[in-house]
Amino acid sequence: MSALRPNALDRDRRDRRQAGADARLPLHEQGAGSEIGQLIRDQEFAQFQALIHGEAGIWLAPVKRTLLVGRLSGRLRDLGLASFGEYYERVVADAAERARMLDHVTTNETHFFREPRHFEFLAEEVFPRWRAEAEEGGRPRRLRIWSAACSTGEEPYSLAMALLRTFPPGSGWDLEILATDLSTRVLDLAQKAVWPLEKSREIPEAELKAFMLRGIGPLQGTMKAGPEIRELVHFAHLNLNDAEYPAIGEFDLVFCRNVLIYFAAAAREQVVGHLLEHLAPSGYLFLGHAESLSGTAFPVRSVIPNIYAHRGARTGREAGR
Ligand SMILES: C[S@@+](CC[C@H](N)C(=O)[O-])C[C@H]1O[C@@H](n2cnc3c(N)ncnc32)[C@H](O)[C@@H]1O
Repeated sequence: MSALRPNALDRDRRDRRQAGADARLPLHEQGAGSEIGQLIRDQEFAQFQALIHGEAGIWLAPVKRTLLVGRLSGRLRDLGLASFGEYYERVVADAAERARMLDHVTTNETHFFREPRHFEFLAEEVFPRWRAEAEEGGRPRRLRIWSAACSTGEEPYSLAMALLRTFPPGSGWDLEILATDLSTRVLDLAQKAVWPLEKSREIPEAELKAFMLRGIGPLQGTMKAGPEIRELVHFAHLNLNDAEYPAIGEFDLVFCRNVLIYFAAAAREQVVGHLLEHLAPSGYLFLGHAESLSGTAFPVRSVIPNIYAHRGARTGREAGR
């Protein structure tokens, strides 16, 4: 695909705003006291709050009342229901509707090469070191990455592009990216790997040229991930709030970015514990810009902001590289 514009865009400021307020609603409508917020009764809001927390770990503070109404009222309309109380009853009785409700409630915003520092760290420090170690026989030529809240796929495919720059096809490396999410809707989109062409602006020129295909005919105005990167990524449904995770094994890199900000504190702690169980001894855990582990008791140390290694693990920084 011919490149349109170089360099990833850093959307940190927009994300920060979104962590506190839904960008789809005008800001003056936010808050418990707004007119829209009154469309749901106190008791109904409390019921949804508890259900969503129990199912997904996501905590909707009272200020998110308007957001909840905004995201679910279309569903009430489609089902011909007159109140949130009726919708609550439906959701409790019907697992498929419960999943659809969570699809509507979750925030799925994502970008290619989001938080570029993370990708620079991989390309400049981690991948070259692991390649050198493998050449010296110090590690297998195998890398496993988990994108643990992958949304519509931009994160795992960015990782696939980053991997192939250092470990091109034919270099003898066994590469694998597992991409999971709670929402089956975003997983379906991620699997299709087709995005609006405007998204090409988020991808550095070299990666765009090497790995993306421009849509033609009915796909005009879109781009699609090329076969080299599609081959590396596979998808699965995984609720990070589950008490136990499936047997997915250990990963050299675990990305869990911009999801824990929506979680209640206890649920967040449980998830981080699980993520660390799935992180290889020499691996790295990547969290979002607003998701620091500083001040927690987890046995980790910060490598660069919001990237963590097991405490005691030896990485390139200690080795003076
Ligand atoms: C804001 S997006 C972040 C996507 C990507 N990690 C990034 O940083 O660009 C948050 C994603 O977390 C997912 N999510 C929310 N709750 C979840 C849960 N309990 N388990 C797994 N995924 C969840 C949402 O469906 C959504 O796709």
